[in-house]
Amino acid sequence: GPDLFAPERANSEGFDLTDAGTLARIEAARAPFAATPFAAAPMIAGKAKGIAPRAAISPATGVGVGAVTDAAPEDIDAALSAARIWDAPQAERAAILNRAADLYEGDFGPLFALLAREAGKSLPDAVAELREAVDFLRYYAAQSAHLTRAPLGTFACISPWNFPLAIFTGQIAAALAAGNAVISKPAEQTPLIAAHAIALLHKAGVPAHALQLLPGDGATVGARITSDARVSGVCFTGSTETARLIQRAMAENLAPGAPLIAETGGLNAMIVDSTALPEQAVRDIVASSFQSAGQRCSALRCLYVQDDIAAHFTDMLFGAMEELTVGDPWHLSTDVGPVIDEEAEGGIRAHIEKARKEGRLLRQLSTPRKGHFVAPTVIRVKGIEDMKREIFGPVLHIATFDADDLENVTDAINATGYGLTFGLHTRIDNRVQEITEALHVGNIYVNRNQIGAVVGSQPFGGEGLSGTGPKAGGPDYLPRFTAPDPGQPGG
Ligand code: NAD
Ligand code: ALA
Repeated sequence: GPDLFAPERANSEGFDLTDAGTLARIEAARAPFAATPFAAAPMIAGKAKGIAPRAAISPATGVGVGAVTDAAPEDIDAALSAARIWDAPQAERAAILNRAADLYEGDFGPLFALLAREAGKSLPDAVAELREAVDFLRYYAAQSAHLTRAPLGTFACISPWNFPLAIFTGQIAAALAAGNAVISKPAEQTPLIAAHAIALLHKAGVPAHALQLLPGDGATVGARITSDARVSGVCFTGSTETARLIQRAMAENLAPGAPLIAETGGLNAMIVDSTALPEQAVRDIVASSFQSAGQRCSALRCLYVQDDIAAHFTDMLFGAMEELTVGDPWHLSTDVGPVIDEEAEGGIRAHIEKARKEGRLLRQLSTPRKGHFVAPTVIRVKGIEDMKREIFGPVLHIATFDADDLENVTDAINATGYGLTFGLHTRIDNRVQEITEALHVGNIYVNRNQIGAVVGSQPFGGEGLSGTGPKAGGPDYLPRFTAPDPGQPGG
């Protein structure tokens, strides 16, 4: 099969944020876009349709970022009629996707500005996100050389706001690398970043009829696209509940066998035993729980600490949390930015308030007064079974365990039905093996943080309620976007 590491390409170098010269270069490139009004509108057969826009608001500052025109029913119909598979030879498609990767890398000024202003991303998060988007483009371009199958037709790509550039681009890059036509529906919270990315892809040479954009919300625009028989397959990343709605709509309206590739939510745990290196474990917990304001599907939600080290260990953790700066993601000193919008803020705050009333609130930092901020928070639970749903923000739940009870812990984690990421800090070798074999989890991280999978070397995706597979950024992903080629032997 294809080489997992695709040696014919390298991952993006990104930016070294410890280098003063690099920081100055980034500042100079994004400063002109600090107040620029951006725009997004349906992009159908190469033409933008921009009437009756709504305002896009920054979650950190409440200030306008630009204007968005959502797709109307007739726009959806027009885009689906105009869609044409990308029938250029594979090498030409790959060259264009590689050119798009170069354009993305060169356009870091407006992209970092947009990621901070529209999505509330801190600079380290924005840098990581641009790298991942570039890596997806180059990885799928390289992997497409191994494909012997035909495109399926028109793919609907439905993406979340929490990786508005990386996941948005990764879905599209995979579908296009395989030669499909793409109708992309970005999250309603982040259409401006999406429109900017689509412009770069078209500029690189992706044909207008092979890639169209339909901004709008999920219940109307998203549901309509995924219920249209002209769609041959759906690539979705978002919540498990939405994946179920899409699956139902597809079953009722699309051809039988149309694939749904879904990457969904998680209830991710970490176990820290008494042999762990505490300083390292604390650093990795802070990153896993609070980086990106906890708005990563991979983020740590429930930490299990061995009971005999728990008191000392949680004190160390609370000390480390005090070092975090919560604030405007535009500032270089910010570690934790806002959550995405008012609704997210309200839901997370209600969860914290309930824990406070029940006497389970262990620690909470203070928050800026303006903007949709939730301070990093720690809540006590008896076990992961106390968590009924994914809390998508900077809230860590802590439980303790007795060394003789480890099997109950792994059973409880499996019983959630989710299986996205898991972290383990231990220096006992056979414990690593025992625990990782017992768990039904997609991505397992030992003695490190549990976020930030790397395209091409750590394919990412979950089991059970967390996704359908195959893993994104891995060698099995592209074939899911294809049909057997009747012209090929065995097809
Ligand atoms: P969401 O499910 O609310 O929305 C995701 C996308 O689906 C959006 O574009 C939305 O407009 C669209 N949508 C909503 N209802 C729809 C419908 N009925 N039909 C068609 N489309 C519809 O998720 P979100 O709040 O944007 O993202 C956060 C969720 O995504 C979390 O659960 C997180 O764990 C998950 N996530 C998973 C991964 C992964 O790789 N497993 C990565 C990132 C985020
Ligand atoms: N791929 C992203 C991560 O690993 C979601 O954090």
